[in-house]
Amino acid sequence: MDTFLLNDSENDLLKAAELIKNGSVVGLPTETVYGLGADAANEEAVRAIFAAKGRPADNPLIVHLADFSDAVKYTSAIPQLAYKLADRFCPGPLTMVLPKNDRIPMVTSGGLDTVGIRIPSHPVMHRIIELSGCPIAAPSANTSGYPSPTTAGHVMRDMQGKIAAIVDGGQSDFGVESTVISFDSEDTVRILRPGAVTREMLLEVCSDVIIDPAILHEVEEGAKVASPGMKYKHYSPKADIIMVESNLDEFLNVVEKNYGEDVYALIFDGDTCNCPYRHMTYGSDSSQQAHLLFQRLRELDEAGAKKVYVRAPSPEGIGLAVYNRLIRAAGFEVIRI
Ligand code: TXA
Ligand code: MG
Repeated sequence: MDTFLLNDSENDLLKAAELIKNGSVVGLPTETVYGLGADAANEEAVRAIFAAKGRPADNPLIVHLADFSDAVKYTSAIPQLAYKLADRFCPGPLTMVLPKNDRIPMVTSGGLDTVGIRIPSHPVMHRIIELSGCPIAAPSANTSGYPSPTTAGHVMRDMQGKIAAIVDGGQSDFGVESTVISFDSEDTVRILRPGAVTREMLLEVCSDVIIDPAILHEVEEGAKVASPGMKYKHYSPKADIIMVESNLDEFLNVVEKNYGEDVYALIFDGDTCNCPYRHMTYGSDSSQQAHLLFQRLRELDEAGAKKVYVRAPSPEGIGLAVYNRLIRAAGFEVIRI
């Protein structure tokens, strides 16, 4: 199949919405990363998403709606706390796991009786949901296991010939996927995947916010996980990633000892001074690092890197999301000095 590139004109957004209504899969821009969207209620369309990504069938898809008031149509119960969180953070990079109803098929929820609901703020995504009238199931638009796409070009590289179209809505603002939470009690939520809605921000609304241990630690094989995505290797370029938690001097020592052909360093913007190694930088603060990380991981592959030593980001605020993606890309291989 030919994969058409659409722009953000109303005419093209109508085309994208028509395709989705008719059961096709379309690459869609959001404020976090690009998604691979289809009608969440259409089992065949949802199967086509899993096929295009090569995604395990037990890893559920997030359902995107135009407004949180639509969540009642697809869920069987919504806690008061969810409404409070929606008032504060929707539309935006927050996904809430809620009990689903029959309008969400089991293929979409990966066999679970819950569904992740997200209200994206990207105007293009929002308009396409409105025009299609569909709940849109959308995982990140990468090949399963590879870094998430933050531009239409990234999606084209992974999905050309596999999906009907891609809508170019510019570079994703945040660059890391949404914060995924579940409800532990009336006033406590659990972060299953960190994102731009940080623990500190959630604490403005919730009495307690638990960070699931699987965010920073490897899950044992066969262990029960709160979110199926925690089981799988993720965000990994072809190159071997090694995270190094240390100051700049010690980091450079590690690189020097292990330097060779096709070895790269991924460092901070302020670090560049006199760095004698093949390297790339990924910003100087947590927001920039979130914005750039996936793009850099793809660029390192294109540059032919086989081994990449990465300076560990500060795990504060949105930095926890960057740290989480990197430690998973590294397969939990960390050098701590
Ligand atoms: O920002 C985002 O969330 C992007 C954009 C496109 O919206 N989407 C995204 O989808 O990152 P995906 O499928 O790549 O990641 C969704 C994660 C997976 O780790 C999945 O296991 C988890 O959320 N998840 C989805 N539904 C869940 C559920 N019902 N219970 C527990 N975890 C769930
Ligand atoms: Mg993903």
